[in-house]
Amino acid sequence: MNLKNRDFLKLLDYTPEEIRYLLDLAHDFKKKKQEGIPHEYLKGKNIALLFEKTSTRTRCAFEVAGYDLGMNVTFLDPVSSQMGKKESIEDTARVLCRMYDGIEYRGFSQTIVEELANASTVPVWNGLTNEFHPTQMLADLMTIEEHFHRLKGLNFVFMGDGRNNVANSLMVACSKMGINFTCCSPKSLWPEKELVDKCRLIARENDCYVTLTDNVKLGTLNRDVVYTDVWVSMGEPAEVWDSRIKLLRKYQVNKKVIENMNPNCIFLHCLPSFHDLNTSIGKEINEKFGLTEMEVTDEVFESKVSKVFDEAENRMHTIKAVIYATLKEEHE
Ligand code: CP
Repeated sequence: MNLKNRDFLKLLDYTPEEIRYLLDLAHDFKKKKQEGIPHEYLKGKNIALLFEKTSTRTRCAFEVAGYDLGMNVTFLDPVSSQMGKKESIEDTARVLCRMYDGIEYRGFSQTIVEELANASTVPVWNGLTNEFHPTQMLADLMTIEEHFHRLKGLNFVFMGDGRNNVANSLMVACSKMGINFTCCSPKSLWPEKELVDKCRLIARENDCYVTLTDNVKLGTLNRDVVYTDVWVSMGEPAEVWDSRIKLLRKYQVNKKVIENMNPNCIFLHCLPSFHDLNTSIGKEINEKFGLTEMEVTDEVFESKVSKVFDEAENRMHTIKAVIYATLKEEHE
C-alpha cells in the first residue's frame, strides 16, 4: 500500500483497503507506544498545524504524533499569524509547503481544505471542516474494532443532528467498512439526500446498509454502537440552542436507549460533551433551559459501555498512522 504524498481530506477519497491499512498501522503504533518501542521514523521532517477553530484532541493528537515520529511541529492560529486576516489560506499554504513536509488544517468549508490541498505540494490533512471530520473516523473505527474485534456486520446508530460533519463522516466510514448505519434524528435534521444516496451505493458494495429513522425505539433496537455529538456544532450561532434542544431532546442517549441495544453495546462521542454542568456553556444552558445534561446523560457517559476516552486516545494513534503513511519514504 503506497499512500505517499496523498492528501487526507475525506474518507470518500479512500478505498476500504486503504482505510484498513491505516487502521492496521494505528494498531501497530499503539502497541509500540504501550511497549515503549521508539518509532522516530520521520526524524528531521517538519509539519505545520493550521487551526482556524479551537481544538483539544485534534491539536494534541497531531502534536504528540509528530513528536513521537521524531518530527518538528509548528502550531498556527489566526491570532498569532497572518492567516485569514492579511493572507489567504491558499497563500499561507503556498508559503508553508516551501518549508514543511505536511500541513494540517482545521477550519470552515470543505472547499477551503480542498483549495489548500490544490495549492500545496505537500500532503494536507483535514483536521475538521464544516462537512467532514475524517481523522475522527479512523479513531472511531479503531475503538469499535478494539471492542468487537471486527467491523463488518456490526450495527451502528448515530443519534442527534444527522447533518453535521461527524454524522456525515460516520455514514461514509460505516458504508466503506461494511457496518450497517442508522441515522436516528428528527426528519428535519437528516443528512443531505445526495450524500445518503452516495453512501447507499458504497454500502451496497460492502454488504451493509444506510437507513434513516426518526423513531428512537426502532433506530436503537439491538444496535452494537451508539454515537452522539453536541447538538450545536462549532461555528453555529448560539441562537439555535432553543430550537435544537426542542428538536433533539428525545434523541438523548440515556439508560433507556442503552437497554434497548445489544447487551454488549458501546457508547462513543467525539467530544467535547455536555454530560454535566462542569462547563461554562453547560451552566448557561442550565440557567436558560433547565437542562443538567444534553446529548448524553452523565450516567451513560460515566458507565462501562462508554469508550469515549479510549476513542480520544486513539485520535493520536490514528493521526500518527496518517502522517506516517503519507510522508514515509517508499523503502520504509
Ligand atoms: N473530537 C475533536 O475533534 O475534538 P477537538 O475539537 O478537541 O479537537
